[in-house]
Amino acid sequence: MHTGTTLTQFIIEEQRHIAGATGEFTALLNDIVTAIKTISNAVNKGALIGVMGALESENVQGETQKKLDVITNEMMIRSNEWAGHLAGMASEEMDDVYPIPTQYPLGKYLMVFDPLDGSSNVDINISVGTIFSILRAPVPNRAAVAADFLQPGVKQVCAGYALYGSSTMLVLTTGHGVNGFTLDRDIGEFVLTHPGMKIPADTREFAINASNQRFWEAPVQRYVSECLEGETGPRGKDFNMRWVASMVAEVHRILTRGGVFMYPRDAKDPAKPGKLRLLYEANPMSFIVEQAGGVSSTGRERILDLQPENLHQRVPVILGSKNEVEVVVGYHRV
Ligand code: AHG
Ligand code: MN
Ligand code: MN
Repeated sequence: MHTGTTLTQFIIEEQRHIAGATGEFTALLNDIVTAIKTISNAVNKGALIGVMGALESENVQGETQKKLDVITNEMMIRSNEWAGHLAGMASEEMDDVYPIPTQYPLGKYLMVFDPLDGSSNVDINISVGTIFSILRAPVPNRAAVAADFLQPGVKQVCAGYALYGSSTMLVLTTGHGVNGFTLDRDIGEFVLTHPGMKIPADTREFAINASNQRFWEAPVQRYVSECLEGETGPRGKDFNMRWVASMVAEVHRILTRGGVFMYPRDAKDPAKPGKLRLLYEANPMSFIVEQAGGVSSTGRERILDLQPENLHQRVPVILGSKNEVEVVVGYHRV
């Protein structure tokens, strides 16, 4: 018999400690969880239900959309538009704010999400994920406009990701630490399996797409070359390297055993200061990483303090084990 704490039980118990909590946030989270279970099912069935492969279309970022990018975006919308908790949604896969259809009530929260992170991995059966961030609507119960979403990451009420890996997990913070839940498919519930996740402060593992090396700035060049020099180099220890090309999987590895993840500023395309998007990748992941005792920076500033300028803004990201990220940040100061 199942005896663990389910996600629903966990969030209701958390809600009891918040004076004046109405249960609305708990209900919103339940709808997000329903979307995530639906996405998990689609990703898991894959080619059996014909969801693999690319479409002809491009998203606002100029990236070719996978079928599953569009399907999962739709799943997030359908699950979350009807209940009256949200004043609007924004996503990687939609140019503008998604307005709540007029037949539904408006709510006091905003949600921004990356419905399928790491989608280049989906056709090859490597882990992908979903990332979401919840903000308060500046004006509750009024249809949201893009400017409403442009809040620094420190304002997030909740951030989470689902990892569709060898098991499906949901990792969540509401600003009181980080908890991880594993989907038990037999009972259809997420069960608390990783309470109080903490990132080890030290690490010997880094993650970066080394094919971009010629475009990196000097501080990152220095950091990586010193890692590669290993035990006889200035760092005095050997490093290991990983690159999954799914940010969710990299962050999950770092939450589990430590490490540094970098998608730094580079000179590949001067119009783009980084690859990852602030509102639905960097901010939610930075909130989770900080809540687990890690650090998240552009190299020059704390990501959660950045004032967003537009929905799809890109930022450099360097996050993970505290002491190691501080080494990289230190190299940006000299
Ligand atoms: P998405 O699939 O949502 O567009 O995000 C992919 C991101 C991120 O998850 C990953 O870390 C990075 O892009 C991989 O980039 P490379 O293809 O340059 O390795
Ligand atoms: Mn992504
Ligand atoms: Mn995506």
